[in-house]
Amino acid sequence: MESARITMFDTTLRDGEQSPGCSMNVQEKLRLAHQLDRLGVDVIEAGFPIASEGDFAAVQAIAATIRRPTIAALARACRPDIERAWQALKGAEKPRIHVFLATSDIHLRYKLKISREECLQQAEDAVRFAKSLCADVEFSPEDATRTEPEFLCQVLEAVVEAGASTLNIPDTVGYTIPTEFAALISMIRQRIKNEKVMISTHCHNDLGLAVANSLAAVEAGARQIECTINGIGERAGNASLEEIAAALRVRADRYPYHTGIVTEQLFPASQMLSDITKVPVQPNKAITGRNAFAHEAGIHQDGMLKNPLTYEIMTPQSVGVPDSKLVLGKHSGRHALGLRCEQLGHQFDRRELDEIYRKFVVLADKIKHVQDHHLLELIEHTHGSSRRIPPAHVDARATAAAAVEARSTNFPELPSTPLPLSSEHQPDQEDYLWGV
Ligand code: KIV
Ligand code: ZN
Repeated sequence: MESARITMFDTTLRDGEQSPGCSMNVQEKLRLAHQLDRLGVDVIEAGFPIASEGDFAAVQAIAATIRRPTIAALARACRPDIERAWQALKGAEKPRIHVFLATSDIHLRYKLKISREECLQQAEDAVRFAKSLCADVEFSPEDATRTEPEFLCQVLEAVVEAGASTLNIPDTVGYTIPTEFAALISMIRQRIKNEKVMISTHCHNDLGLAVANSLAAVEAGARQIECTINGIGERAGNASLEEIAAALRVRADRYPYHTGIVTEQLFPASQMLSDITKVPVQPNKAITGRNAFAHEAGIHQDGMLKNPLTYEIMTPQSVGVPDSKLVLGKHSGRHALGLRCEQLGHQFDRRELDEIYRKFVVLADKIKHVQDHHLLELIEHTHGSSRRIPPAHVDARATAAAAVEARSTNFPELPSTPLPLSSEHQPDQEDYLWGV
């Protein structure tokens, strides 16, 4: 089967940032945008410029700095929003204005207080205006999955006529289910005759179906997926980028699609977001949770030792999870420490690393093994966290260093403990373990 290219649209900096506790300042957004670039996403939705001065500044800074991916900015279907989005975007190499307007009766009646006719006209006018400023215009009929299908198609046809080149179909309230969403996407695909128009998905996770719905939509003809790192976003979040990317890679036998995602950069991206927002990744989160490659049950450990294929459908390294055997303790050297820092999204020059190393040795003397969260705290104490950039592809070097410096254990990580920079040795510290 021929493999179709899927456009990965990351909205961590816009929809993701709307989730409670996940707001980021301009520097933090820029830092994450660099990581999204390394991750290979095709589109970065950098913000909603009319929403605040900070959002405007972040979109402007990202547009001016990140040149490979398309940079998108969100706008409601009205001139002031669209003008503001364009002001923020116009320095981008590949700018995109993303216009949205709710189309479901419930939103029209109670939120917008406009008729369907007015909605249709407003959507068309807004897209035409956006197109007069920017060649690349995306339109989203908000709450599409609860919109009357015939009216939804009328709006979509009208905005295509007005110049939209991407039609994003949001499941705004996470209400749809895979078979139903696939049928909706097929219906839209048939109605929109223009082959150049890309159909996109934007699924929320209120029923825990965002990834399943996104993949069902792809099977029905969608070619862009909107998603976020760690699945953050409004309420229960958006479809998780890492889960989609891994599913497409691991099950390439059933999904004849490919993306530009460098899967080895998934874990560093997840860690960086968590480091910036201070929102931890749930331990059992697929792909990037700390238990995703941990094996505790004796039968599982036995199987893993005999052959990892017994219980692992992908290697930790393939998604950028650090080698399980690289355990940092007082016998570890600068090289291993530097590699683990890189894997956690922090790169230091020699002098900076020396400083970290001195503190690391003091700490390692006090606790048995220095875990990642200890190291992140130590880095923050020493250098702050604002300007670190993880390099690409550190796994091979990590594996090589692991062979030299590693000690392994068969126990998974215990719950996090605070950084005991000055306290006594804690006997209950256990080794950090990814896999066996
Ligand atoms: O969930 C949603 O409907 C949105 C749109 C603005 C695309 O985030
Ligand atoms: Zn959304």
